[in-house]
Formats: sequence, structure tokens, C-alpha cells
Amino acid sequence: LRIRESKSADAIYTTQKRLEALFHVAVVTVYPMIEEFVNIVNTCDPRHGDYQCNTAMQLCQWLKKQGKSEKAVDIAALLVAALPPNDLIESTKINPIGFVNVFLRNDYVTERLTTLLRKNVPPPTIPKKFKVIVDYSSPNIAKEMHVGHLRSTIIGDSIANLLEFVGHDVLRLSHIGDWGTQFGMLIAHLQDKFPNYLSVSPPIGDLQSFYREAKVRFDDPNEPEFKKRAYNCVVELQSRNPDSIKAWTMIVDVSDRENKQVYKRLKISDKLQNRGESFYDEMMKDVVKQLDEGGHLKLEDGRKLMFVPDCPIPMTVVKSDGGFTYDTSDMATIRHRLQVEKCDWNIYVIDSGQKGHIDMVIKAAEVVGWYNPSEQKNQFVGFGLVLGEDSKKFKTRSGTTIRLSELLDEGLTRSAAKLQEKNRDKDLSKEEFEAARDAVAYGCIKYADLSKNRISDYIFSFDKMLEDRGNTAVYLLYAYTRIRAITRNSGVSAESLQEYLQATPRLPLDHPKEFKLAKKLIQFHEVILSVLESLLMNGLCDYVYELSCVFTEFYDVCYCIEKDRKTGEIVRIHKHRLLLCEATSAVMDRCFKILGITPVSKM
Ligand code: ARG
Repeated sequence: LRIRESKSADAIYTTQKRLEALFHVAVVTVYPMIEEFVNIVNTCDPRHGDYQCNTAMQLCQWLKKQGKSEKAVDIAALLVAALPPNDLIESTKINPIGFVNVFLRNDYVTERLTTLLRKNVPPPTIPKKFKVIVDYSSPNIAKEMHVGHLRSTIIGDSIANLLEFVGHDVLRLSHIGDWGTQFGMLIAHLQDKFPNYLSVSPPIGDLQSFYREAKVRFDDPNEPEFKKRAYNCVVELQSRNPDSIKAWTMIVDVSDRENKQVYKRLKISDKLQNRGESFYDEMMKDVVKQLDEGGHLKLEDGRKLMFVPDCPIPMTVVKSDGGFTYDTSDMATIRHRLQVEKCDWNIYVIDSGQKGHIDMVIKAAEVVGWYNPSEQKNQFVGFGLVLGEDSKKFKTRSGTTIRLSELLDEGLTRSAAKLQEKNRDKDLSKEEFEAARDAVAYGCIKYADLSKNRISDYIFSFDKMLEDRGNTAVYLLYAYTRIRAITRNSGVSAESLQEYLQATPRLPLDHPKEFKLAKKLIQFHEVILSVLESLLMNGLCDYVYELSCVFTEFYDVCYCIEKDRKTGEIVRIHKHRLLLCEATSAVMDRCFKILGITPVSKM
């Protein structure tokens, strides 16, 4: 809990961390036998101060176990008296149960806010920079990406953005399903349908229909020859026959092009690279050999199984026909990530249905000795199902799976209608209107997903996500454009605001609503650290929403520009309030970047 000393004078610690450090000193002063025992939380009710220290109660319990009885209120009083001199705390209040309520000093808050503004919302300091792999999106080739992959794409991209923001070295990998027996029937069908495929690139327009055609033939008892040839194609592909590889590459490319279109529309980072099952194919043999030699495999009905502690079912590492499985492939994957990529932190963003599988792979890798959990961390980051408005599996009206491209198209139509309903098409140029339409459509699809706790199933509803009230993308995008417009319309140039900022060591935040907004703004770093811990992006969404609500409270009563009621002439410009607007939009902007949402300046 102690602040780790950093060499850098620029280190940015959160208020929470600073308070923890202060209370820590108090605890060890009063109770030298105690090592670490500090618990600081944010308060929800402003009457109880800005933060609360709950340590006195914990100490009271601890002392009781040692046979000493001291009242929590008395312990709290001792702690407060032992707090070292500091520049953060304005006052403390001890409540009868023993909580210590902490009120922050105005000077401290303004100083922090000024730093935030001057440094253009820097990230908080983290103890150590890691090499992190984020496995996300990961669709299967030939089958179209579905809404589950959409969730993985949105959540994974945002987690990777967050990790990158705080300074980690992030490798974004899409573990595509691009290898396996389904390619046999696809290649066989390709050979029949486009006999010239080796010289002319086949015009497969719609890979999903192509997959379905191949599957129908494969399952058709009247086409036994096709099935046989499909099996043969698998063998040839596995032995890397050049013609088979060529056919395979063509199919993978078509699928990849389709997926890239979805990424482009959603502005998914182009650092996301495909590194799927085929990449690890050649490593699987060696993995099996290593497992065998280590005595980790058991032969059962011709299969090679690995029994992993605490796992209900064993892993099938080699099938009875000698083939490998999804388990084998993920074992090769984790070994490569830990030992060749040497990542410190390996994150899997996959639907919760695969938790058992990945947890088993992680445990198995530990058992085999591929890593030491105190040095490298593997983490499954799961999410729930996407449901339709009827709370059943998300499907089209006719009961077929929803195509992502069609879903995104519908988003655009709905968002355009929403903007038209508000007559935005009248005030905006064509380009501005289209930019707003795209921002709303894609922003709301992402935000609706990110703003819910990812663990729960989530109901996909365009009606709900396009609401312009409450914690929605539409509300926030509007709030953002309004805030941007305040300084734009004030007539005060950005340069003159900057000059004022540089010349003013302490912004005069004397109005309670100014102070409240400033406190919310400097909480940004704490929120980032806590989301980093949980990887629950809804924490960040809640924060942006609260920030925009606190901003509204401020803006309702604090004028930035005062005008004469009769003449309309400007009588006073409050530059520090304009700076509060700037800080708010800058922090919102940062949050939007992490969440993958593109704001517009006019809407
Ligand atoms: N392609 C898989 C699917 O669609 C997800 C892969 C996730 N990553 C992994 N390393 N298994 O179900």
C-alpha cells in the first residue's frame, strides 16, 4: 500500500495513493508492530468529505484478536493526531463508528488541476511497465464474425488502449480460427467451383454462403466422393502442399478483407494483427513431445489426455486419429507467448463460455513449468452473451444469425433518423451531418457494450442505446460538443487561455461548484488505476458520465462570460472557468480515446 518511491520528480500519484501513504505513516507511528493496514475509499456523499479512511475499524478488530480492546473512534483520533504535516488535507472529521472523513484543501486541488491542464491530461504513474499481450476479436475464418466477436473486439480494443495509455508495451493479437478440418471442404469446393483458382483469383463475394454450400455438400450422402476429397485436402494442407496453401491463403484473405471492413468502420486500432491457429500449427508437435516426455499425458481410448489439477475435465491433447485440438493449439499459443514473446501479462478477451478452457490451459502451463505465476501473469477476461430485446439469443427476425455489416448499417440508419428528428440535418453541413451520424452510430454500439459490466449478458437494443438521456453515448457526445462550443463561442483564443494558465500558479476556484468540478476532474487518475486493476471498462464510462453531470451543475450556476442584460455587451470573462471547460473536454476526450469513441465538434 505504500507509495513506491519513484526516481522521477514528475511521477503522478493519485490523491488516494497520497492519502494512503499519509495514513500509513500515522498507523505505524501509533502501532509500530503493524506492517501495512490502510484502507482509503472515495465517499459517495459529499457531507462525508472527499475520502474516507476505514482503517480504525480494521485496527479495532485486529487489536481485539490480540486481546486488547480499544474503541474505533479512539483509534481514529490517535491516527488523525499522528498524521504527518501535508498539503492535501484541509480537515478531518471522525464519525461515531470510527470512519475518518477527509476533506481536501482547495490549494491542493487547484495545483493538481493546473498540472492536469498544463500536461494535457497525462497518465498516472504506474509502478512498472509491462509487455502485455491482448488476445481479442479472434473471429473464425470462413464463418462470418458474429456479435460475440463484436463484443470481444470492442472490449479488447478498449482494454488495449487503456494499457497503452498508462505506458505498457502492448501487442494486440487476433487469434483467428484459420486452421483445422473445415478447410478441407472449403478447398475441395473451391477447386470445383473455380477450377482456375491457381491462375485467377476466385471471385468469392460472400464467404458465408460459400461456407454453407461446402457444408451442404460435405453432409450430403449422395456426394461421398466430395467428403473423401475434403479429407484428402486436409491432409495435403497439413503437409503444406503449395497448391493447398495457395487455396487456403485465398480463403483466409477473403475473410480477412470482410473483417477489416468491420474494423475500419468501428475504428479498431490497426495495430491489431492476425496471429491465429495456423501460426502455432508447427509448434504443436513439439509441445506434445514435451508434454509426453514430462509425463503429463495419459493414454485413454487411443487419446492422449492431460489431467490438470482443479479442472473438471481433462484436456485432449492428441485425438485418437492422431490429430490435434483447440486445447493443443492453445497450449502451443501460451508457450509461445510466455517463452518466445516473453510477455509479462497475457490477456484473453473471450466470451465467458471459454473460461473453463482457458483457465485449464493457464493452469496446465504452470504445471508444466512454462512460467512462474509470481513473474508472469495470464488472465482470462470474459464477457457475457449478447441477447435480443426478448432476452433470447440475438437473432434476426427470421431467426438467422445477424451479420455485423448489416447491424452496423442499421446503426447508421437509426442514428441518421435520430439526428433528423432533432433537426440536426438543418443546422449541419452534409459532411458535419455524416460525421455526427457515424460518431453516434458507432459510438453508441461501443458505449452500450462498454458501459455495462462485461461479465453480465447484455441486451442489444438500438432504442436504448440511442436515447439522449442518461448514461449513453448520445448524451455524452452532445455534452462534449456543447462544452467545446463554450470556449469556441467565447471569443477568447486558445493562446490567450494558455497564457493565462501559464501565468496563474493557482486558479481561483472559490465557488463550491467550481471546486466540486475540479475534484471530479482530478479523480481521473484514480479511475484509470482502478479500471486497470479490474479491466471493467464500465468504471470509466460511469466516470465520464458523472463528470458530465458535475459539469452541468457547475455550468448552470457559474457563468464563463457575463453579459450586460440590456446591451448584450460582454462585461466580464472568467478565464479560469473557461479553463475548467477546457479541462473537462480534455478529460472527456482522453476517456473517449480509451473507449474507442470518436467525438465530433458539431452535432
Ligand atoms: N476463434 C475463437 C472463437 O471464435 C476464439 C479464440 C480466442 N483466443 C484463444 N487463444 N483461444 O471461439
